[in-house]
Amino acid sequence: MSYDRRPTLTTTAGAPAPTNDTARTAGPRGPVLLEDYQLLEKLAHQNRERIPERTVHAKGWGLQGTFTVTHDITRYTRAGLFSRVGNSCDVLSRWSTVAGELGAADAERDVRGFSLKFYTEEGNWDMVGNNTPIFFVRDPYKFPDFIHTQKRHPKTNMRSPEAMFDFWAGQPESVHQVTILMSDRGIPKNPAHMHGYGSHTFSMWNAQGERHWVKFHFRSQQPIENYTNEEAKKLIGETRESFQEDLWNMIQDGKHPKWTMYIQVMKEGEEHRYPFNPFDLTKVWSHKDYPLIEVGELEMHTVPENYFQMVENAAFSPSNVVPGIGYSPDKMLQARVFSYADAHRYRLGTHYEALPANAPKSGVQHYHKDGQMRFFRNDSGNPNAYYEPNQYEDAPVADPSVNEPPLRIDADAYRHKQEITEDDFVQPRALYKEVLNDEERERLHQNMAGAMDPCSDAVKERWYAVLERVHPDYAAGVRRACESAPALPVTPDTPTKVAQ
Ligand code: NDP
Ligand code: HEM
Repeated sequence: MSYDRRPTLTTTAGAPAPTNDTARTAGPRGPVLLEDYQLLEKLAHQNRERIPERTVHAKGWGLQGTFTVTHDITRYTRAGLFSRVGNSCDVLSRWSTVAGELGAADAERDVRGFSLKFYTEEGNWDMVGNNTPIFFVRDPYKFPDFIHTQKRHPKTNMRSPEAMFDFWAGQPESVHQVTILMSDRGIPKNPAHMHGYGSHTFSMWNAQGERHWVKFHFRSQQPIENYTNEEAKKLIGETRESFQEDLWNMIQDGKHPKWTMYIQVMKEGEEHRYPFNPFDLTKVWSHKDYPLIEVGELEMHTVPENYFQMVENAAFSPSNVVPGIGYSPDKMLQARVFSYADAHRYRLGTHYEALPANAPKSGVQHYHKDGQMRFFRNDSGNPNAYYEPNQYEDAPVADPSVNEPPLRIDADAYRHKQEITEDDFVQPRALYKEVLNDEERERLHQNMAGAMDPCSDAVKERWYAVLERVHPDYAAGVRRACESAPALPVTPDTPTKVAQ
């Protein structure tokens, strides 16, 4: 290539740069002159290249795509996105592992994050879910402690199975999620071959102001495919980036992964008659009670041009809902409504929502002012209208018609503890006994035994007692597998008998 056709390198202030490889020195052997500002600028920028990794879900893979409405659900929601069949919007996805750090291997056994940002005509709607329909805990107080058990031990600086199973044994409501984690679906082949779930109960309200409670499901149109421990172990030895490679190759080959969106719907009021708390994140709504209702199709077709800009800078938050979609009383969801935007302000800065990955395509008008990195105007579009109320006809005003209908709450404010009851074992039992077949159950025993092999006998016994409440065969199967010296799992940083 001829050099005169290439653009001129500049300083960050835009001046043509004379060099990008030779320091300005006093004499050919140095020392370097302080006035070589370009060099200082280059070193200073390098020192600021890293931003904090996400406190959880640090390792991730993203694509861009399109969501298209295929079925009418206007009887449930007034959201513009769902206002007519055929309507569509751009979507950014990010899938992730929960526990591993930014450099973790992709094929580790873990729950996978399943985040979607729908750039709708009424602002961004984020679905920040997982590839499992439930979660480990149901009170937000427990989330930071749970995550501590997934991260590194303060002394050994390794992952600690002792901590994980100690915590789970003390929180028997975890057994449903731990069963899924230790089943075949704990190591998906890649994001294309797994389902996504909003997991929490959310709500929708329609043009008449009627509210329904809703669960979101994104069912993969690709077959569900998973790796066994042995397959994953071998794969990680060959590549730590198997998900990124698979997604890249898929898109290069013109294969666009697709999911069908469904909802389960419960009429407001029915929650009082349902046999258990339908806002409990450790439980699903059975498909038999609440059948899946088809809504639309998600097709992911593009690798973002710039990973850092679109995936690392992406800020997904359950607080991002649009008129017609709302939260529910689920305690975990309520905490998440606070936690994510707080994390984004720390990780990305005050104006993270103006970054390309997060900027709504429908436009933004508000009266928030100034702040670090306010690189866009600090008024509402009219330089006089930087406060409200004001006299200006072109200044933004709120639209009361998008007010969520009132939700009746008549209850005692108190620290209501949800005690463990027999209800907590019904669904893991159904999964264990009715959904899994004999081979899947045996692999579950083996996977769990491998994961808990480094644990002390005391922790193992407490965990068997939890499994016993699910089903005696479950406890016996895992005990048998433990006693026959199981293979250690694939997570490369899982220690042997340490970190107790
Ligand atoms: P169904 O038989 O209608 O549904 C069973 C569900 O389990 C299917 O979605 C199936 O996915 C999924 N599944 C199969 N193997 C696994 C696994 N190893 N890990 C996680 N999910 C798996 O029954 P119900 O709706 O009455 O639910 C029965 C049990 O199934 C529940 O107690 C729960 O443990 C589990 N489940 C229920 C879901 C729900 O939303 N109702 C969602 C996922 C799991 P697929 O169709 O791809 O095979
Ligand atoms: C990421 C907090 C429960 C799914 C995060 C982040 C925080 C967080 C702080 C990092 C956000 C960022 O830096 O961008 C919490 C708290 C929870 C909770 C406080 C409970 C009280 C859950 C649950 C799910 C979930 C129940 C799934 C159903 C995710 C996903 C990400 C994430 C998918 C990654 C988002 C992305 O791709 O950028 N969580 N979380 N979390 N969380 Fe949670």
